[in-house]
Amino acid sequence: MATVADRVFNFSAGPAVLPVTVLERAREELLGLPGVGMSVLEISHRSKPFDEILDRTLAALNQLLGVGDDHEVVLLQGGASLQFAMVPMNLLPGQPGAAKWPSLPDVGQSPLVCDASSDFLSRPVDIARYGLLYACAQKNAGIAGVTTVVIRKDLLERSGEHLPAMLDYRTFVSKGSRPNTPPVFAIYILGLVCDWLLNDVGGLEEVARRNAAKAALLYEAIDASGGFYQGHAEPACRSEMNVTFRLPTPELEQAFLAEALAQGLSDLKGHRSVGGIRASVYNAMPVEGVQSLRDFMNDFRNAKG
Ligand SMILES: Cc1ncc(COP(=O)(O)O)c(C=O)c1O
Repeated sequence: MATVADRVFNFSAGPAVLPVTVLERAREELLGLPGVGMSVLEISHRSKPFDEILDRTLAALNQLLGVGDDHEVVLLQGGASLQFAMVPMNLLPGQPGAAKWPSLPDVGQSPLVCDASSDFLSRPVDIARYGLLYACAQKNAGIAGVTTVVIRKDLLERSGEHLPAMLDYRTFVSKGSRPNTPPVFAIYILGLVCDWLLNDVGGLEEVARRNAAKAALLYEAIDASGGFYQGHAEPACRSEMNVTFRLPTPELEQAFLAEALAQGLSDLKGHRSVGGIRASVYNAMPVEGVQSLRDFMNDFRNAKG
């Protein structure tokens, strides 16, 4: 059986690293939820134990995000990609399910809509400023299969009567995120991640402080490399979740990836459309993993630069 010592430092952009305590708890409960005698993979989504998991997860998300009375939090399937269609289908009145616009829609008084998939739960957010915010879970909040949507209540009135029920946010609000069989395991893991953030980490301000410190280690290595590592982003626009950079040649990038992997630093290859190196340093990436990568970057530059 694998142990914590067998784990590599996984810098994948998603599905991504999870907190070890979340994995351990899921493993412990996989033969049976406490007092239930069955795992979350087997219980009915209408059962009392799942009621508790869903209620606790939604309550934790509301608390972490500071959701007030003006907004609703719902959990959906279809990934963040489904939101690319659901947002316009629901928020643009009189444009039922349109995929091609004959002319540009009038966006005056537009609500702010945010795809927060990459930095969801990585720092405090001012939910009151958003009309709608969505995020898939498999980066910073759990595993693939569940997408969180926070929507301002007045926007729910925009959806016309024409939408299929499963593409209408109102269905998920009125049915408490459970109009049909929801992704029970993904919701369970999202709940465990929220518990970890609230109870082990101590909330989003603390996780933001840790994330800023972790990202700074890598940006310092880039900035001190004398141009050997070239950051993709302008310094003012740098991400604290995805640290991206290039090396002087594609051959050096290949060598960097191979040698990093040999040292237990995995999944550093850049996005397929951009190339280079991408280190995703989500909430669950321990600072020791980032320090190892920083040390490796310095050693690699000293050897090859
Ligand atoms: C910002 C952003 N939006 C959307 C997606 C797509 O998410 P999903 O695969 O859940 O549809 C990704 C995935 O990498 C992403 O990074």
